[in-house]
Amino acid sequence: MAPAVLHSISAPACFSPKQFVTARSSCARSCRVTCIAEPPTVKASTPTRSVEECEAAVVAGNAPSAPPPPPKPRAPQGTPTVSTLHLPSRPRRNRKSLALRNAFQETVLTPANFILPLFVHEGETNSPIRAMPGCDRLGWRHGLLEEVSKARDVGVNSVVLFPKVPDALKSATADECYNENGLVHRSIRLLKDKFPDLVIYTDVALDPYNSDGHDGICREDGVIMNDETVHQLCKQAVSQARAGADVVSPSDMMDGRIGAIRAALDAEGFTDVSIMAYTAKYASAFYGPFRDALDSNPRFGDKRTYQMNPGNYREALIETRTDEREGADILMVKPALPYLDVIRLLRDSSPLPISAYQVSGEYSMIKAASAAGMLDEKKAILESLLCIKRAGADVILTYFALQAARYLAGEA
Ligand code: PBG
Repeated sequence: MAPAVLHSISAPACFSPKQFVTARSSCARSCRVTCIAEPPTVKASTPTRSVEECEAAVVAGNAPSAPPPPPKPRAPQGTPTVSTLHLPSRPRRNRKSLALRNAFQETVLTPANFILPLFVHEGETNSPIRAMPGCDRLGWRHGLLEEVSKARDVGVNSVVLFPKVPDALKSATADECYNENGLVHRSIRLLKDKFPDLVIYTDVALDPYNSDGHDGICREDGVIMNDETVHQLCKQAVSQARAGADVVSPSDMMDGRIGAIRAALDAEGFTDVSIMAYTAKYASAFYGPFRDALDSNPRFGDKRTYQMNPGNYREALIETRTDEREGADILMVKPALPYLDVIRLLRDSSPLPISAYQVSGEYSMIKAASAAGMLDEKKAILESLLCIKRAGADVILTYFALQAARYLAGEA
């Protein structure tokens, strides 16, 4: 299945230029407005008159007939009679048909824009995540491969991995995070063996491995220790690169971690491994379902001494400057939909690619409202993703990646 392009949230995805030829028949079925000009089916008859003869007939005033213009559609009875407004501009003209709307659409969505976050666990089978209907903790050996294979079938070739680590392997210093035979490391090696061209992003942070549930090492008074945490993050990132990760993504929000990780990767010869920095990551209530999925809720306190204050906008520029200076390849804003202004800010302030994370809570809101019959699920998903891209995101981490890509391909 060729990846499709979303031209309009209300248009079937079959209007992708790439799919133009193959999609014609399904278009004709599903479009209310006929927008692809099929040549009229004219019986091939042998011409009887030459061009000169036809022209002479027209010149002599005997023009052949063609259909009259359609009759003017009637307005409902009771419509007021008014004089025409003399408007220099009528923006609705450019929206009057599907073909025109498609032609003038500024933002288009493709499956190549999506990164699919996947939860893995040690189990043999998948287990559903209560707070994220439709998402499972995937068995790393089977379920993971099946999910990735399905995603690739619809053009989604980038994934980011999150492990559900057994409690017995968690510790206050989270050393399991750089175990070369840990769950993430094994999963990367298996995926690379099966799908060598898959782009694998990893999460760099201590929380899935930390008995305290925080992204950094906690001192006994609850303070998150910055520089000591960065030391562990460097070991984690290098171990992930060694397993075959393409892009490491520090989501921990410690100061100085991008530069330290860049230096650690380079020192080990991983100059080709990229860093996607969680640049503007806010202390958000919308991470709730994710923490449920990984059983990684902080044991005490919250993450407000390292994640950003949702009330702050300009502060994102400080994080942008430091991450750029320290060598980030991609800058991320997280969450996405409540922070579109911040996405636009980073877009306009940095020449680096911008990513946005449509987080677990954003996913679960749409799922729950749709299941309750309050939203049209397909339209809500595609509109939310389109708007995140319009705000300035090049790529979007979204649990809807597979579902949205299938919609774009005209399935479902
Ligand atoms: C942890 C991490 C979190 C998410 C991604 N990495 C949770 C947190 O910061 O508490 C959240 C993703 C989501 O909610 O979908 N470093």
